[in-house]
Amino acid sequence: MVTAALPYANGTVHIGHLLEYLQADFYTRFLKLLGKDARYICASDMHGTPIEIKAKAQNQSPLAFATKYSKEQQADLALFEINFDNFSNTHIKENQYLAIHFFQTLKAKGLIYLKETQQMYDEEAQQFLPDRFVKGTCPKCQTADQYGDVCESCGATYNTTDLINPISALTRTTPVMRSSNHYFFRLSNFQKQLQDWLNNSNNALQSEVKNFVQNWINQGLQDWCISRDAPYFGFEIPGSEREAGNIKYFYVWLDAPIGYISSTQDFCQNTLHSLTTSWKDYWSKEDSHVQHFIGKDIMYFHLLFWPAILIAMDIPLPTITVHGFITVDGKKMSKSRGTFFTAREFYELYGNSGLRFYFAKHLDRSVTDINLDFHDFAAVTNNVLVANPGNFCYRTLSFVAKRYPQGLPEPILDAQSKDLVQKVRGEIEKVTAAYANQNTKAAVNHLLKISDLGNVYFQNLEPWAKRETSEAEEILVHSLSVMVNLARNISILIKPILPEFSAKIEKCFGPQDQLANDSKGLLWHNLSFSWSGVVKTPQRLVEKIEITQTKSNSVAKESQSVTSEVDTSNFPADLRVGEIFHVEDHPDADKLFVMQVNLGDQIGKRQIVAGLKDAFTKEQLLHKKALFVVNLESAVIRGVESSGMTLVAQESKDRYNLLWVDENLELGTAALFETVTKISKELNFKTFTKFKLKVESNTIRWKNHILTISGNKLQVPGIKDGAKIR
Ligand code: MSP
Ligand code: ZN
Repeated sequence: MVTAALPYANGTVHIGHLLEYLQADFYTRFLKLLGKDARYICASDMHGTPIEIKAKAQNQSPLAFATKYSKEQQADLALFEINFDNFSNTHIKENQYLAIHFFQTLKAKGLIYLKETQQMYDEEAQQFLPDRFVKGTCPKCQTADQYGDVCESCGATYNTTDLINPISALTRTTPVMRSSNHYFFRLSNFQKQLQDWLNNSNNALQSEVKNFVQNWINQGLQDWCISRDAPYFGFEIPGSEREAGNIKYFYVWLDAPIGYISSTQDFCQNTLHSLTTSWKDYWSKEDSHVQHFIGKDIMYFHLLFWPAILIAMDIPLPTITVHGFITVDGKKMSKSRGTFFTAREFYELYGNSGLRFYFAKHLDRSVTDINLDFHDFAAVTNNVLVANPGNFCYRTLSFVAKRYPQGLPEPILDAQSKDLVQKVRGEIEKVTAAYANQNTKAAVNHLLKISDLGNVYFQNLEPWAKRETSEAEEILVHSLSVMVNLARNISILIKPILPEFSAKIEKCFGPQDQLANDSKGLLWHNLSFSWSGVVKTPQRLVEKIEITQTKSNSVAKESQSVTSEVDTSNFPADLRVGEIFHVEDHPDADKLFVMQVNLGDQIGKRQIVAGLKDAFTKEQLLHKKALFVVNLESAVIRGVESSGMTLVAQESKDRYNLLWVDENLELGTAALFETVTKISKELNFKTFTKFKLKVESNTIRWKNHILTISGNKLQVPGIKDGAKIR
């Protein structure tokens, strides 16, 4: 049973979340390929105060609000081929039933008690203030502006009343204390059992994680408050009104991890349709095993509260793997910096293979953060994935498909291929061990060694060169068969990470491979060098990507104010370097030139009509490089088609300067503001005129952003400050 943390149903899945859902996906797919009965379970986390607040702000019921996000989460995760066996939500009746069952069992065991507490109360709003409604300074690390339940800076959890300088998020007033009875779980009883678990965990827990937990245990474990006052979106605690004086709800962190179990139960009933299989078969049989994947921010809940509850419920303890955070530009993703990408946005730009491969290449079961650098991302996709395994498999299979339609024999190994096969077998073992250790970084590295060996072997073989004797041809046929076997093995080894890539390769091998193992296709036990048969022409396996996004390194932009009219993180014009290679008079207008502009291989050549005749001669324009807007709607200007626009600086009514750029810049190079610039849609002229560009200190500015080209500020010497760009 593999799980990933249940995403809060109050927002859209972003690329940070994807790290975890992919990490768990890689692992489960690997286990399945080994032939294990592995399942990947998840759900939306529906409860808690943030959902309550956000739903209210949108005038929706919390359930309708959370359900909408839960659906969206599933659709977005599916874009990345995350293969859940079940995805439910924590508001289903199985979860309610189990949460109540856990509560009553623990209560009957004397592990839950009622205690009068002092709670923050907002007199102006006339209600108790749950954790998220109170902000203040963390009592552990003194970081300001933290929520009432958990510190985002040091990860500590505490009682709202421990916050230093608390303030109500509802009314901005200082809350008062009022007494309220609450349910507590005796976490303090579990000090020793948790310590034993830690001591006996050996390598099941990462050493960094162990240190964290050890520190927490050393500080002494406090009993844990598991109830909340209204208003709260969650399950009502039965009998609470009678026992505690008013209705209480389960704190979201009580029923959320129980969601792992209820989703398993939901799976057994609604997917397996089994009357005899239950969650216990996956959670508490002798040969069952639970593996949680979580982020470092939710360790406290998963490494103290949850294990203590499982111990108390006599359920075996899981293995827990903690990952670090995705950063962009070396920093936390941020909307204002333009470094925040939802999963869908990212998918629409780059598809899913690149990110799956990039994350796999960085995940090594350590808790360190992983930085997504867009240049690195493009390099890994284009120069590693496409150029190495992509290229090897594609060239081998397409060559054999074309030249040997009659098929190839099972390879008989000569000395050279024996050596190769031996090396590859060694790497296969390392790849397998790396996957088993959840170290996909090492798995990818060993896999790349295999495709490297393949590429070199193929190159040395020169299979395209004519063989003079039939003996030589016979040797070639066998060598090629080794190559095809290698490609087939690579397709199996890469399958946990790139299922689509593998499926395309399997298609080349005909029905016996595609339908192998009950239509699951090739599995780990199919790794071999004894394949023989016909190879069909492969489809393109992976596509190169082009980065239209650049990361930001500007300082000013964070402080800029956000105006309502235009989205400040998005500059809509695609600006490129082009060379004017032909200029003639417009046949039908005095002030216009018709220019032919070369914008490089990717964009091609464009005809552009420009009103430059008053300011320039043809000779001044010819063979110059300047900046052009290339995503403007085409227009017909006095009978001549124009697809684009050149940028000029206007110092006064009749003083223009063209924005010449360095002779050495490659045609088609993009000029970008120092921000994530989204260049996608076709732009209409009117919209473009709303973006006011100006010259300041020899650079071109849009708001606080400076125009850059190939990472350097674009210099426009000699143009006066304040000149308008149009
Ligand atoms: N609902 C809780 C989990 C309950 S599990 C019983 C929660 N939800 S979450 O939506 O905030 O986060 C879900 C998972 O995504 C967490 O494991 C979290 O660490 C992870 N991530 C959220 N942002 C992330 C990054 N920027 N980078 C990597 N992982 C990130 O916590
Ligand atoms: Zn703190």
